[in-house]
This record gives sequence, structure tokens and C-alpha cells, in this order.
Amino acid sequence: MSGRAARADAEDALAPLAKRFLLPEGVIYLDGNSLGPLPAAVEPALADAVARQWGTGLIGSWNEHGWWEAPLRIGDAIGRLVGAAPGQTVAGDSTSVQLYTALGAATALRPDRPLLVTDPGHFPTDRYLAEAVARLRDGTEVHRVAPHDLDRFLAAHGTRVAAVSYSPVDFRTGELYDMAALTEVTHRAGAVVVWDLCHAAGAMPLHLDALDVDLAVGCGYKFLNGGPGAPAWLYAARRHHDVLDTPLTGWNGHADPFAMDPDYTPAPGVARARIGTPPVLSLLALEAALTVFEDVDLEQLRAKSLSLTEFFLDCAEELLTPLGVTPVTPREGARRGSHVALRHPHAHGLARALADRGVVVDRRPPDLLRFGVNALYTTHTELLTAAERLTTILRDSAYDPTPPPPGRVT
Ligand SMILES: Cc1ncc(COP(=O)(O)O)c(C=O)c1O
Repeated sequence: MSGRAARADAEDALAPLAKRFLLPEGVIYLDGNSLGPLPAAVEPALADAVARQWGTGLIGSWNEHGWWEAPLRIGDAIGRLVGAAPGQTVAGDSTSVQLYTALGAATALRPDRPLLVTDPGHFPTDRYLAEAVARLRDGTEVHRVAPHDLDRFLAAHGTRVAAVSYSPVDFRTGELYDMAALTEVTHRAGAVVVWDLCHAAGAMPLHLDALDVDLAVGCGYKFLNGGPGAPAWLYAARRHHDVLDTPLTGWNGHADPFAMDPDYTPAPGVARARIGTPPVLSLLALEAALTVFEDVDLEQLRAKSLSLTEFFLDCAEELLTPLGVTPVTPREGARRGSHVALRHPHAHGLARALADRGVVVDRRPPDLLRFGVNALYTTHTELLTAAERLTTILRDSAYDPTPPPPGRVT
């Protein structure tokens, strides 16, 4: 295993990209699928934004330094990573707010259809917000249908479905679904699709325009490395812009915000999905973080990510399976996102013990350990070291089996 890791790392053309991050010495960071690490470009950009733009330019910086346009400018930068032509993506607010906007707009595109389909395994906020949107529309119901069952469900009920809301990567298991096939079957039923790309954007090539996706959202703090609570983003296909009816009609989405018009007239284009005053400092941090991707070929990034996750699955099978750990992430590359999940009844204690030994991972209840790889900086050797440290912890029973206290970030 160590020879294979060394060879793969030596041949890795993307290895120099790790220098674009300020990763602490001695830490193996496998949690970039929760919070991306700090890109070197962020600190100077933020220092400039604070001291010069805000400190000296004061309110004039809204015009002078492009603060006002930041949500659209940074939206376009994200658009380049997800296969969206300019003018269809807006950055700002949280993923949850963007989901509410996207799901509200999606159901409004099909006003005569009462069903909103979501994944029973979807991230909780996606499920909660689907229910919230349904509550706003008399007679709308949420149906939880696993992506593998969508075809069958739509064959029976498709004419009543307004929208299907899925994530291509299962946040627990790392399973990757076929975005193209799910989008197509949704469209065949005459419904619109809303993708949550939190675990996909920046981790793999995406093709929102080419797939005719209707709406999509994603966060800025995982594979985009925009920092804690980084602004999220929303994509709305250009063909929907003229009729896009967003539920949160704040003044920033008005056609002429500074006219202070008592009545709402939506802005042309995706700008109508803007809501309130944008979080400028966070947007500028995200913008600097995105420069990491400037000359990166996302196909190459994906190939390395697959090599890393396959290697880690092999390590897990050889070292950890005999110790009671069960890999749950699919073996086939086409069905694997950019993290690997391992099942063990004491996942929490194991994650803590790994952290004490310099390996940062996270866990999802009740029993999954998640190892996030990011091909921008993760190496095969680091993954082998993580697997070896976990092996030692398990062999020595060197972990605390007490369940976590409630209310802590885990
Ligand atoms: C798929 C998915 N959607 C949404 C979120 C979180 O939403 P928010 O950024 O509003 O906290 C997460 C967080 O991990 C997620 O994995």
C-alpha cells in the first residue's frame, strides 16, 4: 500500500496545487467536505477589503470597488465551475435561503401540479424547506422518493409533480447519483429539477447548462473553500428568468433598487433572485478562494479524486474491515462522490481519537465516519496514514465509546 501511495503521489500533476492552501503543519485534513481549508489568497484579499475598501473607501466602495455587483460577479465565477454560462448564477445568503428561493420558484413554474418530490435521504434542511414551501401553497404535498425509485414514481404520478429536489451526492454515504438521467426523467414528466450541489460543486465537473437543469443551489464553504458560513449560490436557467417568481422579493432583487419604489418590480435576469444587502466581506473572501481553481482542469481534478477515494476504499478493506469497520461508499467510480463513509458503532469516539492523532474527519449519526478528500490538496499517502492510525486506534481500543453531548458541531 505505501508503495502504491508513493507512486500515485509522485505521478500527481496536481500536487503543486496544495501550496495554494494554508494547511497547518502535521494535520491530515479530511473534512474539506464540511469546511474547506483556508486558501492563501483569502487573507490578503480580506485585509484589503477591510482596511482599504471599507476603512478608506467607506460607503463609496459599493460603486468604487464593485461591492454592489459582487453577488453576480462571484455568481459567474461559480458558474464557470458548474457549467453555467454567465448571467445565471447569484451568490449570497445561506444554502437554506437559496433552497427556499429555488423550491419556491420551481413550484411556481408548475402552478397546476401539487407534488414536490424530495429525497428521504436528503440533507435535513432540504427536507424541512420542501415542507416549508409546500405549506405556502394550498394543496401542495411533499413526497419523499429515493433517487433510485424516481423513474417508477414518475411513471405513476409524474403528471402531478411540479418539482424534484435532489442532491447528486448523498451527504452520508458519498453515493453519487446520475444527474443527467434524473434530470431527464424529471423533464420527461414535465416537472422541473432543483439540484443541491453542496457536495459536488468544486469537487467534480458539472454541466448545468448542457443538462438543461432548471434550478440549482450550493454552499460556498465546502469544496469552494470560501470559509465558515461563506455565501451560498443559486443558479436559474436563463429560459426561466422572465417568469421566475421567487418567494423572497427583497429590495436588492428590484429592477431599480435605489428608486425606493413602494411596489416590487423584479429585476431582469437572475438579479431578481437577489434578496437583501449582500454579505460583502464574506463574498470577497469567497471570490479570493475561487481563484484557487483558475487554471484547474475539473476533469483532471475528478480523476485524482476518484484515485484517492478508490485507494482509501482499498486501504479500508485491507486494514479496517477485519476490525469491524464497514465501507458504505460505492466501489464503482461513477457512483462515488468525493468522500468515503465507513460504518462503525463508535464512529463518534473514533473521530475524536483520530483528531487527537492529527487526522481530522467527521461523523454522521448514528454510525458513519466520513473521510472527505479534496484532490486540490489531499494525497494518497495521507489517506494511508489515516487508515493506519485508525487501525491502531481500533486494535488498542483507544477511543471513548461515550456518545457525543448534544448541541456540538460534529
Ligand atoms: C446537501 C446540503 N445542503 C445544505 C446544507 C447546509 O445548508 P446551510 O448552508 O444553509 O447551512 C448542507 C450542509 O452540510 C448540505 O450538506
